[in-house]
Amino acid sequence: MRFLKPEEYRELLTKGIPENVEERIGEIFFENTKLRRLFKQYYGVHLKNILSTPYFVQRMLLPFKTLPSSEGRRLEIETGNITFLEKLILNRRSPYKLKDHIMDFKILSNILYYSYGITKKKEMEIIDEWNNKIKVFYYYRPTPSAGGLYPHEIYIIALRVSGIDPGIYHYNPFESIIEKVSSSYKLRVLEGKLWEIFTGLPEEPWLVGIIITAIPNRQVIKYFSRAYRFIFLEAGHIAQNISLLATANGLGVLPVGGYYDDELISLLNIDQRIEIPIYPLFVGKPKSTKKEIKSGY
Ligand SMILES: Cc1cc2nc3c(=O)[nH]c(=O)nc-3n(C[C@H](O)[C@H](O)[C@H](O)COP(=O)(O)O)c2cc1C
Repeated sequence: MRFLKPEEYRELLTKGIPENVEERIGEIFFENTKLRRLFKQYYGVHLKNILSTPYFVQRMLLPFKTLPSSEGRRLEIETGNITFLEKLILNRRSPYKLKDHIMDFKILSNILYYSYGITKKKEMEIIDEWNNKIKVFYYYRPTPSAGGLYPHEIYIIALRVSGIDPGIYHYNPFESIIEKVSSSYKLRVLEGKLWEIFTGLPEEPWLVGIIITAIPNRQVIKYFSRAYRFIFLEAGHIAQNISLLATANGLGVLPVGGYYDDELISLLNIDQRIEIPIYPLFVGKPKSTKKEIKSGY
């Protein structure tokens, strides 16, 4: 192994990982697992078949590994005097039926900041190519990130949020603002687009869509294709933060895996050679007023 020369690094930064270093497995995986309209037809038939076959349904309802022949010790789970976080975890549910509601911009702001904002800044010294000491800042976020490289971006599809026109916005954590990506939409027009793109999204009065995207090169430059693992893992951290923060505010979050990737890419106005959508989440006010769900134990 040898270290790359600065000009080689520069080339890496501008052109990404050369094809011959590895085979861009991450990009191929992303491209080949896109949901497309033609594929969706076959997929729909497959889902219908599998869900009407009792054998598969029974298997799907028991996703637990057990080791019958090994010794066990029963867990000692506190169910009575539980913490606020434990309550939130019990109360988090994907909502399917929603009430009419308007989301306060402050709640959206808090969800964005506490899920993926910049929560701490630390000054550090590094040595540059000419051996000069230079001061840089390290920006901490609420989620862990491989290499502290934070590959994700967050977009907001605002539908029913106080004081913001329906439209697409980008969360800029550096300046703590949301930036307009598109000109405003009429609510019905934007909703119409969403029903077209998100096959997995029930037609309900959603308040906001939060789309986690990734700029893979932020991690690919260090980890090559293994970065794609981190990108998916870290998106889960952000999504869980968003879900629990929304639950804390009496809202529910539906993660949506059913969507046409290419159409979402064009709605967000991103260049998929640089940035790709990873995880869409929709926030709504659940119809069910049930406050607490009892633990299964
Ligand atoms: C990655 C992912 C994708 C999902 N996609 C959809 C979807 O497209 N449509 C939908 O109605 N629910 C979707 N869900 C929600 C699941 O159906 C739901 O989480 C599951 O039934 C468990 O229920 P709970 O979230 O209330 O605990 C998705 C969940 C995850 C984690």
